[in-house]
Amino acid sequence: MSISDIYREEILDHAKNPRNQGKLSEFDFEYKENNPVCGDTITLQIKLDEQKQIKEIAFTGGGCTVSQAAASMLFESVKGKTMKEIEKLSSQDVLDIMGIETLTPSRMKCALLSLEALKKGIIK
Ligand code: FES
Repeated sequence: MSISDIYREEILDHAKNPRNQGKLSEFDFEYKENNPVCGDTITLQIKLDEQKQIKEIAFTGGGCTVSQAAASMLFESVKGKTMKEIEKLSSQDVLDIMGIETLTPSRMKCALLSLEALKKGIIK
């Protein structure tokens, strides 16, 4: 796969219509993370169930195609996961979820903004 794959249909669809975008009426934690390179932010809210698995997740914030698609695709994939499973997620996992093999370093920061928010929110 090449860099042009970041603009393939599924990614564009997630960027244009991000899943789980918005705010939760009740949540267990909230965390705001920004990309220092561009200033884009993601604010994340998470509601856990009795087993401490992610029950609901929502985010607000703006950013580029890659950051919005990554947030949408990553957050869809973490529902039902435990905190321990979230802690183990890597940058490679985000690329795998997006179906991308590699990104430039600056694009990688965009793709990892949502993972940073998720992990820092959980350990804070
Ligand atoms: Fe800001 Fe991608 S350019 S997150």
